[in-house]
Amino acid sequence: MCGIVGYIGYREACPVVVNGLKRLEYRGYDSAGISLLNTDAGIYKCKGKVSDLEKVIEGNPVSGNMGMGHTRWATHGEPNDMNAHPHSSFKGHFIAVHNGIIENYGKLKKRLKEEGYDFKSETDTEVLVNLIEYIYLKWEVEAETAVRLALTKVEGAYGLVVMCTDENDKMIAARKSSPLVIGIGEREYFIASDATPLVEYTKNVVFLNDDDVAIVSRDEFTLKTIENDRLDPEIHELDLEVGDIDKNGYDHFMLKEIFEQSRSIHDTFRGRITPEMDGIRLGGLYHALPSLVKAKRIIIISCGTSWHAGLVGEYLLEDMARIPVEVEYASEFRYRNPVLYKDDIVIAISQSGETADTLAAIKLAKESGATVLGICNVVGSSISRETHGGVYTHAGPEIGVASTKAFTAQVTVLAMMSLLLGRERNVIEDTEYVSLIKELREIPGKIETILSLNDEFKRFAGLYKDALNFLYLGRGYCFPVALEGALKLKEISYIHAEGYPAAEMKHGPIALIDENMPVVVLSPKNGSYDKIVSNIQEIKARKGIVIAVVNEGDNVIKEMADHVLEIPKTRELFSALLTVVPLQLLSYHIAVMRDCNVDQPRNLAKAVTVE
Ligand code: F6R
Repeated sequence: MCGIVGYIGYREACPVVVNGLKRLEYRGYDSAGISLLNTDAGIYKCKGKVSDLEKVIEGNPVSGNMGMGHTRWATHGEPNDMNAHPHSSFKGHFIAVHNGIIENYGKLKKRLKEEGYDFKSETDTEVLVNLIEYIYLKWEVEAETAVRLALTKVEGAYGLVVMCTDENDKMIAARKSSPLVIGIGEREYFIASDATPLVEYTKNVVFLNDDDVAIVSRDEFTLKTIENDRLDPEIHELDLEVGDIDKNGYDHFMLKEIFEQSRSIHDTFRGRITPEMDGIRLGGLYHALPSLVKAKRIIIISCGTSWHAGLVGEYLLEDMARIPVEVEYASEFRYRNPVLYKDDIVIAISQSGETADTLAAIKLAKESGATVLGICNVVGSSISRETHGGVYTHAGPEIGVASTKAFTAQVTVLAMMSLLLGRERNVIEDTEYVSLIKELREIPGKIETILSLNDEFKRFAGLYKDALNFLYLGRGYCFPVALEGALKLKEISYIHAEGYPAAEMKHGPIALIDENMPVVVLSPKNGSYDKIVSNIQEIKARKGIVIAVVNEGDNVIKEMADHVLEIPKTRELFSALLTVVPLQLLSYHIAVMRDCNVDQPRNLAKAVTVE
């Protein structure tokens, strides 16, 4: 939700900030802006994308070695030129960009109006920058002090970068529940919402913690608490290359990320499966393992696609480790007064590691004394630091807004955890354990086979790109995949789609079926194959169009379905890892054919850092 970039050093700041904003555009893309602290402290901003901003600044004297920019996902105030960031204060002493929500902005705005402050926008950010200025002028303090004092008065979340026109040799950054990273170069510093804009300049970064305030000048970087106590910054080295965040010849990040899945799954289990394939090591669970092995209950919390991975995790953990699992939407869990015990294990799943609802649910679970573990993709993210332990998915940066490789990596981690716990709890026999690990190792190769059928999936997409509705059905491990397939289609192509457990169809959704309704039925050969065959017959009896995902060589369903998408066979436990891939490609091609912005679908943003 919103991307922030700041730069101070010896380079021209404008290209650094604009290129950084392009890297962060997946976080929000309804308006963009930039301000450089040159002589006139100009602010250039507009509704639209960073490319629209580039047109605005073309021909303008945007020069200077210090500046900041913002790409927005609107919370307070519709996306328009005025509400775009940066925002300047009433008397012109401060300029700010902000990610997050100031919850008490109404009260603060009223107070500031009483003091004679006027507002140009509807944003909470303008309230914050005016509050900073008010404190600065009234108490005659330094800019940094004004920022810290103002932040003690606000409730809510912020990733904030502030420049003071009277102190044009420094930038002040602060964080609460909204990520900020400082990149450390040679006589230059970078500030960003995540590390992607920094990687081409430096690998050395400091992740700000909640209530940290960073004062960044060309030569120096000071870290403090909001109460003015000095902190020692912990410098991390980024394990990220520029190639990881480029499209590398693909038309869209989403397509690149779908095609990366055989490699990304490999990276997920790299170094975690013994060379003899007889053991799994998950270092991040080392301390929690004894509690996990004894666990009476696991609660998985997550949102969106990560929640779908959590559902697959429920089946895996119950099947392989025989531990009862509950899967909760983080947003529901945090507000519904859940019963939590000290010996509960809570697993938070999140690609970004920044999802506000998941973070809040983690805090709630920690307060109850539960052990909280994370499955995150982004290294150093808030969730990975907020949890007691966990496992990184190592899928590499996911930039397409629709999650693809993160899902398969999360399921892979859950499969490894389930195998590990099954073994530790003596639920899985040794031979079965080894055979399952071997099968898991085969998944990347099988994904390659599915990807080689891309042209075929594209052809089917052409047949159904104008459909108004889609239904996705699956049983067992394929039920969460049906939900995921429907989510992928609706979020990027804007076609209404629903996912259902296939057996639930007759309890309602069957009424929707007619000759215009494409129904994607996940039908690999597994324990419920015969039941799925019956479901297909029920759809055909009502003239529905059946697109079945089947195992290679399945002639029974081929006879009944309108189309089949063939995938290799795997063990039922791992079927979600394969069945999801054709659905990702189908959605991708339909969205492209409908001229939708696949990587930046309307109204969405990659990391949902507001509730
Ligand atoms: C869908 C999608 C979202 C995310 C959800 C959780 O394609 O990307 O549904 O899965 O916002 O995000 P993370 O995993 O970052 O917590």
